[in-house]
Amino acid sequence: MPTAEQAMGMIETLDIAVFQVKTESTLSDRKSFLRVQNFARSVFGHYVYLEVGSHIGGSLFPHLIDPACEAAISVDARPTAQPDERSQVFHYPENSAARMIAVLSDWIPPAAMAKLTTIDSDVSDVSPEAVDPRATLALIDGEHTDTACFSDFVGVLPLMEQDCVVAFHDANLIADAILNAERFLDHLGITHETVFLPDTVAVLGLGRLASAVRDRLQPHALDRKTFLDLSQRQLWSHIAKVHSPKIHAELEGLRSDNSQLVKEIERMQKASRDAEARVAAMTSSTTWRASAPVRAVVDRIKRRFAR
Ligand SMILES: C[S@@+](CC[C@H](N)C(=O)[O-])C[C@H]1O[C@@H](n2cnc3c(N)ncnc32)[C@H](O)[C@@H]1O
Repeated sequence: MPTAEQAMGMIETLDIAVFQVKTESTLSDRKSFLRVQNFARSVFGHYVYLEVGSHIGGSLFPHLIDPACEAAISVDARPTAQPDERSQVFHYPENSAARMIAVLSDWIPPAAMAKLTTIDSDVSDVSPEAVDPRATLALIDGEHTDTACFSDFVGVLPLMEQDCVVAFHDANLIADAILNAERFLDHLGITHETVFLPDTVAVLGLGRLASAVRDRLQPHALDRKTFLDLSQRQLWSHIAKVHSPKIHAELEGLRSDNSQLVKEIERMQKASRDAEARVAAMTSSTTWRASAPVRAVVDRIKRRFAR
């Protein structure tokens, strides 16, 4: 466990060894998380961190040990399974704030743990009074669907200071939610700027933080259009891969139904040909021709009785 001073040094030098608790993020994501944390420290001096989706606390950890972080609020609905834009369901067994606190407490001294507030809820249901003072830095890393992420963004806004930073993890999966968030900010008349840091961390600077995000984080960012295009292609190809066994099974089922139908049609065509042949044989037989006058008389009688 690094001392507070060592931890600060590690945060400042973007040393990802500072992540002592397991986090579901790539090594480059961790570096980007630290870059955003350093940015918050430099622009705010002290900051309040709000996290949507904390699991066992991996991404909370560097903030809890950072003396510049005054308070950390973890909002997590704690479902046991959640859908995902990749067309898969991800499972979170034993998902609880108590477990997260137990894991974090193994590493973090009680004084630093005292900064942490946990809220077991969807962020849209959190009242603004529950976050006092308002947060200045947020990370959205809950359910990775566009619908949920956009909803989280809308839910986070009332809990934030006007000039703030909102980051999204796994931005490659929920890029449409980020584009909607930008459009929503346009609609609200809030100045904003977005950068995409490697691998998948989107950072939105709001209000007076917009230009600072552009000036200080853009030099480390990926090209926006390339990131968005690649994310979409990779997502679609992933979804196609996930669905391909099901599509193949459905195709096999259709092929088999089709061959049964072809056999049925052939059987019916043969039955029809046989019937036609029987009728032809009957009408051309001597008995049939010889009995024609009798049938004509019978037909006449039938017609008379029918009147
Ligand atoms: C990918 S994990 C978070 C990982 C964590 N940020 C880290 O890097 O270690 C996703 C988390 O989102 C939480 N979650 C799912 N739906 C949620 C919702 N509607 N609101 C808040 N959190 C949610 C899950 O309980 C889970 O803990």
